[in-house]
Amino acid sequence: QSESEDNLRSPICCIMGHVDTGKTKLLDCIRGTNVQEGEAGGITQQIGATYFPADNIRERTKELKADAKLKVPGLLVIDTPGHESFTNLRSRGSGLCDIAILVVDIMHGLEPQTIESLNLLKMRNTEFIVALNKVDRLYGWKVCRNAPIVKAMKQQSKDVQFEFNTRLTQVITQFKEQGINTELYYKNKEMGKDTFSIVPTSAISGEGIPDLLLLLVQWTQKTMVGRLRYSNEVQCTVLEVKVVEGHGTTIDVVLVNGVLHEGDQIVVCGMQASFYYSYGAEPIVTSIRALLTPHPMKELRIKV
Ligand code: GTP
Ligand code: MG
Ligand code: NA
Repeated sequence: QSESEDNLRSPICCIMGHVDTGKTKLLDCIRGTNVQEGEAGGITQQIGATYFPADNIRERTKELKADAKLKVPGLLVIDTPGHESFTNLRSRGSGLCDIAILVVDIMHGLEPQTIESLNLLKMRNTEFIVALNKVDRLYGWKVCRNAPIVKAMKQQSKDVQFEFNTRLTQVITQFKEQGINTELYYKNKEMGKDTFSIVPTSAISGEGIPDLLLLLVQWTQKTMVGRLRYSNEVQCTVLEVKVVEGHGTTIDVVLVNGVLHEGDQIVVCGMQASFYYSYGAEPIVTSIRALLTPHPMKELRIKV
């Protein structure tokens, strides 16, 4: 919660897309963790959240030599499941965010939950960046670990570049069929508004990750300053309520804006419908006994 010069809060970015396109793996690659392999069946079944402090983003993007200053204190990234049965969680995630990453598997193109996610984003007018993931699966791909994508692309043979361009063109056409204009980010002069940017990535070897991070931060800083101003009004969304040994009932929340203190009185919506409240569930009035924040660069889901 360190306040930056311009007094901006951290943008919230939701990562969405069809099952197994590599959403969790992309976050693992940025965090240097291995959450995905610990998931049951390799399937994400709940919303995750990770805080990336500005220092880590600066370190990870330094090869791009962007002199643009980071004005945001960091980035909060929300991971969502891609499996078809979790539409509610995708909807919750997309409802929270300032910007989104829509992950597309370059070998598969647009798939049913890509389109479902796209429609959720369209509905809320949320801007997004397309991560065209798994470029390392292009036949003959030469690994350039964690390299900016233009640099990595220059190392590739003519055949790899040709296959990449063919698949990219197919994906751009598929987006057009959904009424969305997209373009490779370094060719996209408009950056958002009418044409959404595509960043080719590999979650396994890290190509394109610096580009993705820098674009996220630059774009939010440039176009969302008004929305990212710190305010005193608390804006907070509940993700989950659970009993944690040693802590009792805990609530996982995403604090979008404002500040919470221990001892603050809060009102949350209960689950039990009540006779006295004809508009639905009974309100629960309580106070915050303790505030626990996950470590930076660690998943909320991971016990530390
Ligand atoms: P759900 O959350 O279940 O929807 O899946 P997800 O989108 O989070 O995908 P996940 O990270 O679970 O990755 C799915 C599979 O694809 C795993 O076996 C990953 O190792 C693999 N994978 C993800 N990204 C890449 C990539 O960039 N390259 C390659 N070769 N494999 C990848
Ligand atoms: Mg996942
Ligand atoms: Na998966």
